[in-house]
Amino acid sequence: MEKAYYRPSILASDFSRLGEEIRSIEEAGADWIHIDIMDNHFVPNLTFGPPIVSMIRHVTKLPFDVHLMVERPETLFPALAEAGADRITVHPEACVHLHRTLASIRELGIKAGVALNPHTPLNVLEYMLDEIDLVLIMTINPGFGGQAFLPSMLPKLRQLRELLDKHGRNDIHIQVDGGINAETAALVTDAGANSLVAGTFIFGKQDRAAAISALRAASKV
Ligand code: DX5
Ligand code: ZN
Repeated sequence: MEKAYYRPSILASDFSRLGEEIRSIEEAGADWIHIDIMDNHFVPNLTFGPPIVSMIRHVTKLPFDVHLMVERPETLFPALAEAGADRITVHPEACVHLHRTLASIRELGIKAGVALNPHTPLNVLEYMLDEIDLVLIMTINPGFGGQAFLPSMLPKLRQLRELLDKHGRNDIHIQVDGGINAETAALVTDAGANSLVAGTFIFGKQDRAAAISALRAASKV
């Protein structure tokens, strides 16, 4: 399997100094930036929209991994494309026509991801594999940073790795988001994840380079 990718979630950053925070994680060796957009309908929290994404596009060269926790996400795609999104991940429960939604992300030249809440079974992916570049296994309930990792997601990760193996689709990335730290990074990468999102573990530390190195060192890929 290819190497793992580390994506700090700016949800845990100091928003009053967002530009500096993003520069600090770029210098610290992050591979991507994970951007959590929430609408206070799909999840009980509210963050920001495409105008902020567009502004931060000017402060970093790192690719943008946009995690949309919003209902009817397709209305945001053109503005997010304009703002510089490199990947957009949606939740199936928020999409009336998931296949069409994924196709419309790719039509904009953006990679498409599907995020599965802890209760959402893997079979929602069964007929969608040709439409996706990444599966995000939520290891918490979405909406807030700083929650505890759900160990019950480890068998789900293993089953997803088997499903992708069975279909010869190891090019599809397996991402995890929620409660990732040096300890859980070892568990999730052992179970098949190769894309790790971490908010609190990276932004909660003065030395972000050390935090990212600790994740890399703990990972089994
Ligand atoms: C929560 C977000 C996560 C969040 C993770 O819904 O999707 O990206 O920032 O935060 P930590 O790493 O603190 O669990
Ligand atoms: Zn996220």
